[in-house]
Amino acid sequence: MDSVNDVATKAAQVSEAGQKHLYPPPADLAAAAHVKSLDEYKAMYRQSIDDPETFFGNMARQFHWEKPFDSVGPVYNFDLSKGPIKIDWFQGGKTNICYNALDRHVAAGHGDDVAILWEGNSPDEQASHTYHDVLDAVKKFANVLKSKGVRKGDTVTLYMPMVVELAVACLACARIGAIHSVVFGGFSPEAIRGRMADAQSKVVVTCDAVMRGAKPVQLKTQVDAALELGKDDFTVESVVVFRRLAGECPMVDGRDTWWHDEMATVTADCECEWVESEHPLFMLYTSGSTGKPKGIVHSTAGYMLGSWATFKYVFDYKPGEVYWCTADIGWITGHSYIVYGPLLERATTVMFEGVPTYPDAGRCWAICEKHAVNQFYTAPTAVRALMKAGDDFVTKHDRSSLRILGSVGEPINPEAWRWYYSVVGEERCPIVDTYWQTETGSFMITPLPGATPLKPGSATLPFFGVQPVVLDDKGVELEGEASGFLAIKKPWPSASRSCYGDHARFESVYYSMFKGYYVAGDGCRRDADGYYWITGRVDDVINVSGHRMGTAEVESALVLHPACSEAAVVGMPHEIKGAGIYCYVVLKDGQVASDELAAGLKAIVRKEIGPIATPDAIQFSEGLPKTRSGKIMRRILRKLAENPAIDMAELGDISTLADPGIVALLKDGAMKLA
Ligand code: WTA
Repeated sequence: MDSVNDVATKAAQVSEAGQKHLYPPPADLAAAAHVKSLDEYKAMYRQSIDDPETFFGNMARQFHWEKPFDSVGPVYNFDLSKGPIKIDWFQGGKTNICYNALDRHVAAGHGDDVAILWEGNSPDEQASHTYHDVLDAVKKFANVLKSKGVRKGDTVTLYMPMVVELAVACLACARIGAIHSVVFGGFSPEAIRGRMADAQSKVVVTCDAVMRGAKPVQLKTQVDAALELGKDDFTVESVVVFRRLAGECPMVDGRDTWWHDEMATVTADCECEWVESEHPLFMLYTSGSTGKPKGIVHSTAGYMLGSWATFKYVFDYKPGEVYWCTADIGWITGHSYIVYGPLLERATTVMFEGVPTYPDAGRCWAICEKHAVNQFYTAPTAVRALMKAGDDFVTKHDRSSLRILGSVGEPINPEAWRWYYSVVGEERCPIVDTYWQTETGSFMITPLPGATPLKPGSATLPFFGVQPVVLDDKGVELEGEASGFLAIKKPWPSASRSCYGDHARFESVYYSMFKGYYVAGDGCRRDADGYYWITGRVDDVINVSGHRMGTAEVESALVLHPACSEAAVVGMPHEIKGAGIYCYVVLKDGQVASDELAAGLKAIVRKEIGPIATPDAIQFSEGLPKTRSGKIMRRILRKLAENPAIDMAELGDISTLADPGIVALLKDGAMKLA
C-alpha cells in the first residue's frame, strides 16, 4: 500500500501539469444541456445528499415498478464494528431492468427507434436493431435459457465477442431474474475455469470465433478447454454457441447447441420475472490486491438508477442522438455504458466488434462520420495510440456531429487530453473524464458537460449522491486542499452489494481499512476548487491499458514456470498502455537466465490469464528486497521499474532489508534492461 506521502508526490505532478488552464462549458451546449450551470449542478448535488428520498425517489418513479417501493432509503451499514456491511435501496419494490430497458419503450410507441447500431470488424458489415428487434430476440433467448433449466437466481456465464447477441443474452438473463457473469473474450481457459468454478453456472453462452482486425480469435475452443480443465470443480450442462464465422467448430453431443437452432424452436412470448429491488442482476470478476479475481455483485434497482442517471446527465443525451462507447462488454464500462445506461434512456448505442486500428488508425473517426456519432467515449490508452498515428487519420473524417467526448480507465495525461480536445473535438466538445470502478457500478467523480469547467487531468466533481472524502494514513478525513486515500462516505444507488459467495471478502477488501468508509484503492488530491485529481491505485493493482490487473495474479502465473523460484510484479510507465507489467524473477538454482526463458515466462502468463496480462519486461535477479521478516519491499521495486537511473538516496530507507546489498544489484539489472 502506498503512503499518503507517495500520493502527495504524484498528485503534485499531475495537477501542476493540468491546472494551467480552465475550460468552461461552451455556451450553446450549456444552454441546451440537462444541467446548465455549475450553480444548477450544486443545487442538485446538495439535494441528492440532503434529501435522497426526494431526489432519487423522483428519478426512480419514471421507471416501471410492478410493485412500487415503500421507501428510497438508503438503509445501510458501512461500519463493520456495527455488524455486516449492508446496502439497500428502494425497499419493498419489485421491478425488472430488462422491462425498463426495452418493453417500456416499445409500449410507449418507440419500438421502431434504433437501439443498437452494430458495426462489424470489417467496415462493410453493419446492422441496425430497433427496440422492437432487440426485445423480440431477448424474449426468445430468455425462453431458450428457460428450456435449459435456468431459473431466477441461477448464474449464466457469457463468453462472447462484441456481437449483438451478447447484449441480448445479458438482457435475457435479467428478464428471467438470472444473474449474468460476462467473462471478457480475451481471457484464457485457465481464467475462464476459475470464474466458472466460482460462479457454478450450468449454462455457458459463447461464440464459435470472431475476427479482431486481421486476426481470427477462437472462443469456443477456449470454452471447451476451460470446461475440460475444470471438470472436477463444476458441471456445465449446456453450451449455446452463436455462429459468427463459417469455419469448423467442434460441438459436443448432448451439451452443445447452436444459437440459431435454439432460437428457431422457441416463441417470442416471455413474461418478465418481477424481482425485488435488491435481487442480484449480474456479477463481474475483477482483480484486486490479493488472491483470485472476485465476482462483484450488482443489484437490480440501485444499479438501474445509477447507470441510467449517470448516462443521461454525463453524456447529456438527447432523444435521437447516436452515442458510442468503444469499451468491450466484458468490462464494467460495457455493462453500464453500452448496454444498461443507454438502453434505459432509450438511446441509440453503437456496438463495435473490431479494433481502433483496423483497417487503419482512422477507424474510430470513420465510424463517427458514418453514424454521425454525437457522444464518443473511450480510454486514454486508445487516445494515446491514435494520437501517435498522426492527425491526418482524424482530420480526413468529418467529426462535426461530435458534441461530447469521454475518457475512462486511468487518469488522462494532459498531453493526451489536449490532443483529444483540440484535434478530435476541434475545441468544441467538453471531455468528460469519468472516474469510477467495477465496484461502483456507475460514475462517481465526473464533470457534467454543460455545467463543469474542466481542468485537463482532473475528473472534477462528484456525481449526484456521491460523497467522496480524502483520508490520511489513519483514516481521518482531511478538509480543503488535501492528498490522501479516496474513500466514499455514504452509499450511492449503484454501489456493489457483495462479492459472489463471499460477503466476508467484500467486507474485508472494501470496508475494513477505515471504519465507516468504502475505500476505493485509489489515491487522490482535492484542490482549492474542490476538484478531485485521481493519482492512481495505491494498492497492488495496475491499470494496464485501462484494464485492472492484480500483480499477485501475474506472480502466481510466473511461479508455475518450472524454472521460476520467486517473482514480484509491479507497474512501470508505458507510453501507450499507461502502465506496463514489470516482473522481477528469481530463478531456481542451476537455471540460467536467457531470452528463451523470458519468452517462456511471458507465455505462461498468457496461458494462465490471457494476452492482456503479457509482461512488458522481465528482469532476472539474484533475489528480492525483503525485510528481515520476509516481506518484499515493493516500493523499491516500483521505483526502480519506474526509473532505473534513480539516485540510490531517493529509494528511501533500505536499512531494514535483510540484505541491503540486493538493491544495487537490482538497480544494475534494471539499467541493463532499460
Ligand atoms: C482507474 C473501470 C483516473 C482507477 C471503470 C480505478 C480512473 C480503476 C478513471 C477501476 C479516471 C477509472 N481517472 N483513474 N477517469 N477511471 N480509473 O474496475 O484506478 O476496471 O480504481 O473500472 O480504474 O477500474 P475498473
